Amino acid sequence: MNSDDLLNRAYELDSTDPLAHWRDRFVIDDPDLSYLDGNSLGMLPRSTVHRIHEVMNDEWGSGLIRSWRKWLELPLIVGNELAPLLGADDGEVVVHDSTSVNLHQLLHAAVRLRPDRRCIAVDAHEFPTDRYAVEAVAGEHGLTVVSPQSGEHLDDLDFSDCAVVVRSLIDYRTAEIVDLHSFTQQAHQAGALVIWDLSHAVGAIELDVHAADVDMAIGCTYKYLNGGPGAPAFSFVRSSLISDIDQPIRGWFGQDNQFTMDGAWSPKPGIGRLMIGTPSILALEAARCGIELSSEAGMPAIAAKGRALTDFAHECCDEMQLESVSPRDASIRGSHIAIRHPNAKELTERLEREHSVIADYRDPDLVRLGCSALTTRFGDVARSVIRLASMVHQ
Ligand SMILES: Cc1ncc(COP(=O)(O)O)c(C=O)c1O
Repeated sequence: MNSDDLLNRAYELDSTDPLAHWRDRFVIDDPDLSYLDGNSLGMLPRSTVHRIHEVMNDEWGSGLIRSWRKWLELPLIVGNELAPLLGADDGEVVVHDSTSVNLHQLLHAAVRLRPDRRCIAVDAHEFPTDRYAVEAVAGEHGLTVVSPQSGEHLDDLDFSDCAVVVRSLIDYRTAEIVDLHSFTQQAHQAGALVIWDLSHAVGAIELDVHAADVDMAIGCTYKYLNGGPGAPAFSFVRSSLISDIDQPIRGWFGQDNQFTMDGAWSPKPGIGRLMIGTPSILALEAARCGIELSSEAGMPAIAAKGRALTDFAHECCDEMQLESVSPRDASIRGSHIAIRHPNAKELTERLEREHSVIADYRDPDLVRLGCSALTTRFGDVARSVIRLASMVHQ
């Protein structure tokens, strides 16, 4: 197939795509831009623009302090709205602060649940924030960090002295999906807890944290959930663990009877005990609009389109002789693909500058193409790969 055949095939796929109309629900400033970075910052939903104006005018502008009566519980309300996307129940998810802060918080809590253990495990190539958090929390508790040595894999480690393992469900570089159930079981058999980083999974693939017996999870809402730049993150703790969680970052929003000002620390009975200080209401409302769109479109349809887009991306790579390092098997691949090239950084910059394609670069040699089911067209995928190939093979 030459590039014209690929483009024609892309247009055909777009014309029969059952989710194609969802793009109209987003702000499209430049229809010719191929935006393949929704896995870092999802596009802006039209409903967010409307909602933020409404919150500013009616709730903040007119309601003033009175609006706190409805805002106080917003992190929990939005948590309940997000829960079905994780396969979680009401009262198991709270949306607050950032993924980095929430990971620190849950790591401390997990270590306190396993006081007899001497290690925390994390992969040496895990997302930086996750490694830094593990190192910091291990240091504070006098624990050792265990990581696979070269040639070894995280699955090969013995977790019998580990309090907790931190792991991304989807590799931020290659998009490879770990087996959520079997790895959780492996850690549990050794007596360790697992904190899953679902940042690249939520809103991209179907999740069932209960079927996999997940203990705790954290993740971003500004990627596939289109929550907005710096949108608050989520924390999940399975209901049977919540009352045992002794969280270290204490603040008055985590306190039971928050307005009994002189009382000693007594955490909220539920997941609300993870809340810290005053939540950012505008950011939460924006995250809420993004979450609503994914819920309305439905995860089965979103995940199916993610697989179709990334399958097609691989077809384009094969035709254009580009090397993808992402799995070929769609059942173990998230919603992006990573193309390896020694000049990846320069190529990514030129894609934007010369070809109206926004992708992203991951050190040292990957061009990542993020495929967001609600906004990415098959035509975007074909154009991006063809233009990348034209620079590589020129
Ligand atoms: C896998 C993963 N974990 C954690 C983070 C950190 O999130 P935040 O910067 O919102 O704390 C990111 C950010 O991109 C990420 O991709």
